[in-house]
Amino acid sequence: MNINFTYLPGDGIGPEVGAAAMAVLEAMAQKFGHTLETEEHLVGGAAIDALSSPLPDETYASCEKTGAILLGAVGGPKWDHLKGADRPELGSLLPLRKNLNLYANIRPCKPYPALLDRAPLKRERLEGTDFVVMRELTGGIYFGDKGRDEAGAYDVCRYSAMEVERIAVKAFDLAMQRKKKVTSVDKSNVLETSRLWRETVIKVAARYPEVELQHLLVDAMTMHMLTHAQDFDVILTENMFGDILTDEASVLAGSMGVIPSASLSDGSTGMYEPIHGSAPDIAGQGKANPLAMILSAAWMLRLSFGLDAEAASIEAGVEAALEAGQITGDLGGSLSTSQTGDWIAEYVKN
Ligand code: NAD
Ligand code: IPM
Ligand code: MN
Repeated sequence: MNINFTYLPGDGIGPEVGAAAMAVLEAMAQKFGHTLETEEHLVGGAAIDALSSPLPDETYASCEKTGAILLGAVGGPKWDHLKGADRPELGSLLPLRKNLNLYANIRPCKPYPALLDRAPLKRERLEGTDFVVMRELTGGIYFGDKGRDEAGAYDVCRYSAMEVERIAVKAFDLAMQRKKKVTSVDKSNVLETSRLWRETVIKVAARYPEVELQHLLVDAMTMHMLTHAQDFDVILTENMFGDILTDEASVLAGSMGVIPSASLSDGSTGMYEPIHGSAPDIAGQGKANPLAMILSAAWMLRLSFGLDAEAASIEAGVEAALEAGQITGDLGGSLSTSQTGDWIAEYVKN
């Protein structure tokens, strides 16, 4: 088939992990007899530098047209002096998510067997862990009014019942296909948005009698995640808590460089990106772990193009690389970003 997608490498390590993922996608296309129709565009800081806009019209038009977007990362110190929507993050990532209505952000955490003794935590904290974070991605404090006044600054956090309900439905639907447990994470002892969150989730839960519902406060959750992660199946949470908890989950998974994500709407549009950022501290050195980006590409194949076998072959390649120790330094290996991508590309071809 013709795989028409938008590729947005972005900034920092984005283009590095992106090149590795593209090598793997090319190998997949060769092996399975597909053609890649890649529409590559500038986004974030790179687009500010070249075209004076973090999300140029042609970039957005391609995303809308293909409806399948593979994104590296945006942002970095070079653009940190910029304010508001002039920033790479607020000017590209957030409008892409909002305008394409990508409200359901799915981030998995299932430590690979090969990493159980390489991760920063003890093996017994990791073994048996298999959860997915369902993060609300187009509401909350990220998108409320923000600004400055005489006294200081403000960021407003708002959620509508509809916004909470639709992400809760996604979480319960996913739980029905998994271990049938939803842990809803909020701060309902303090925040009114969290009280609405909890009430709404309870209403949705009534439609899923088979699914166990648990509520946890987000501060306690940060501790539970590191002490008994095995208890969780689907973790349902709002935008900012989901952002923070998934970086924490990367400690269980072994590295920031291994967790992919899919951001989905009700329609067929999907954006796929690693959970990590542009990692300015290691950019340009060939040190970045490309696995999260490669796995994001696999998710794009499965969720946007229905290519299950192709996605599975890439995932098998990632697992094989981990088992063979053909990995980057963050996981204790000695390969560069491109060598890791090439190793997995070879595996997929054969
Ligand atoms: P980061 O995720 O870029 O890096 C955090 C730490 O993890 C760093 O030490 C980094 O070296 C390491 N790391 C991240 N990805 C890695 C990989 N693939 N392999 C090995 N190590 C990896 O977070 P940060 O440093 O707080 O943010 C840097 C910039 O990235 C900021 O401008 C931020 O806004 C942006 N950011 C963008 C996205 C995105 O585009 N989706 C996500 C997060 C952060
Ligand atoms: C992420 C990132 C983004 C977020 C930033 C860069 C806007 O941290 O995708 O996890 O907070 O959602
Ligand atoms: Mn984040």
